[in-house]
Amino acid sequence: MPSTSKAKAGSISRSTRQKIEGILDKVIKDFSPTENEKKMIIFYSNMLTTRLKSVVPKSVEIAWVGSTARGTQLRGSSDIDIFLLFPRHMDKEQIKKKGLEYAKKTVKPGANESYVIKYAEHPYLKLFLKDIGITADIVPAFKISDAKERITAVDRTQLHNEFMSEKLSQVQKKQVIALKMFLKSHGIYGAGARYEGFSGYLCELLIYHYGSFIGVLENAASLKLPVLIDPLTRANGSLTQTKDSVARFKKEFIVIDPTDKNRNVAAVVSDESLGRLIAISKMMLEKPSLEFFYGPRYSDTYSARKISNIRKNLGIDLYLLAFKIPDITEEIIWQQTRRFGHQIGGILKKNGFPPIIELENVSEKEAIIAFFISETSHRHKIAEGPSIFMGSAAAKFLKSHQKSLGIFFSNNRIYALEDSQYKGAKQVVNKALESLESAPRYLEKKNVKIYVNDIPEGLAKLLYEAFVRRTSL
Ligand code: UTP
Ligand code: MN
Repeated sequence: MPSTSKAKAGSISRSTRQKIEGILDKVIKDFSPTENEKKMIIFYSNMLTTRLKSVVPKSVEIAWVGSTARGTQLRGSSDIDIFLLFPRHMDKEQIKKKGLEYAKKTVKPGANESYVIKYAEHPYLKLFLKDIGITADIVPAFKISDAKERITAVDRTQLHNEFMSEKLSQVQKKQVIALKMFLKSHGIYGAGARYEGFSGYLCELLIYHYGSFIGVLENAASLKLPVLIDPLTRANGSLTQTKDSVARFKKEFIVIDPTDKNRNVAAVVSDESLGRLIAISKMMLEKPSLEFFYGPRYSDTYSARKISNIRKNLGIDLYLLAFKIPDITEEIIWQQTRRFGHQIGGILKKNGFPPIIELENVSEKEAIIAFFISETSHRHKIAEGPSIFMGSAAAKFLKSHQKSLGIFFSNNRIYALEDSQYKGAKQVVNKALESLESAPRYLEKKNVKIYVNDIPEGLAKLLYEAFVRRTSL
C-alpha cells in the first residue's frame, strides 16, 4: 500500500505557518508578472498564433505551452513557448524542416523583431520581441495523446501542459512562483548543466503533489532517500516500488512524470542541489524570513584579492585551468567542463593531491576549472588493493607493492602507501591533460592556460562567482 505523502502536513506551529504565509503574500506580489506583462504575453501569444495559423496547413495544431500558458512564470522572465504539432505519420526530419520554415514566415524582422535558430535535440526558433523584452520559442513536435506515441524528446511537453493546466489551482500557481524564486535565489532553479537543479515543470509537480509551498517545505525538510514521488496518485511509493524504481532509474530521488511513467522528472537534480533544498527548507521552517527569496547578494569587485585571501586563510593552493571556448550552446560547454573537471579532480586525488574544492564556471568566451588543494600536498599516494581474502588477487597485489613505503589493512582490505611520482599538483594537472585523450571536444587542450595561485581579475570574477555559489546556501 502506498503511504500518503501528506502525512507531514500540519506538523508546524500555527505561528510559523502564519509567518510563512505572510512572507509568501509579499513574495508572490513581488515576483508575479505585472498586469501589463500579463497583457503583453496574451497579446503576443495570440498574435503569433494568428500569424502561424495563416501559414501552416490545417493538419498542424498550434499549442501554447510552458509556464506563460499556465501563469507560473516569474516576473520579467517571460518566454512564450509555442509548439507546432504535426501529425504522427510525418517524417521526423520533415517536421523539423517544415516547422522552422513556418516559424520563420511568422517573424517580421525589423526594429522590434529578430530571431535565431537554436539547436537542442532538434532545432527551434527563438524570437525576440525587443521593445517589450519578451522572447518566444517556436518548436516543432508531433501531436500525441499518450507518451507511448512519443517520437521526439519534446513531444511530452503538450501532455505536461494538459496535466498541469487541469490540476493546479489558482492559489497553487501563485505558490509555484514562490517556489521557483525560493530555488532561484539559492542557485538551484533550472534543469540545465549549470544548475543541475529543479525545472519549472518539476516545481509545479512538487506544489501539486504536496499541495502547497508549505507542504513542499515540510516534506523536503524531512526527506529521506531513497524516495519515489508519484504525483499522479499523490502518494509516495511503497518500499518495494521505491527499490524497483531506484534500480530502474539509477537515482535515489525520483519524481515520476504523471504523463510518462518511464521518466524521472528529477533525473538531473544533483545531490548537491537536493541537499541545498533540504537545508534551506529546514532553515526556513526554523526561522521564516523574506531573505530566503531575495538571492545571494555579493560584490564581485576585487575578486582576485578575495580569492587570494580565502586561499591564504585556508592554507590552500589554487590551480586554475582556463579554456577559450567556441560560440556554441552553453549547455554543451557546461556538460563538458563539468565532466572534464571531475576527471582531472579524480586523477589529482589518486595521485595524492585531493582537491578540497573543485569548481567549474562558464562565461561567453571562457570556461574555467579550478581546484583548491592543501598547501602541504601529500607527496604520497595510497593504492587500494583487494580484500585479503581474495586469494590470487591479494597475492598479486602484495607482490607488485613489495617496495612500497608501507602496507596496511582496513576492513580486511589491503592498502599500500607509495611515493607519488609527482612533486606538485601542477605536474599532475599537466600529466592529466596529456593523458586524457578523451578531452571534451570544445575544451581544446592546446588552448588551455594554467594558473597557480595568481589569477587575473577577469578569471577571478568567474571563479569567485562559482565559489560563492558552491559554498553558501
Ligand atoms: P521551459 O524550459 O520554458 O520551462 O520549458 P517552463 O516550465 O516554461 O518554466 P520557465 O518559467 O520558462 O522557467 C517549457 C516546457 O517544456 C517542457 C516542460 O513541459 C516545460 O513546461 N520541458 C522543458 C521538458 O519537458 N523538459 C525540459 O528539459 C525542458
Ligand atoms: Mn518557458
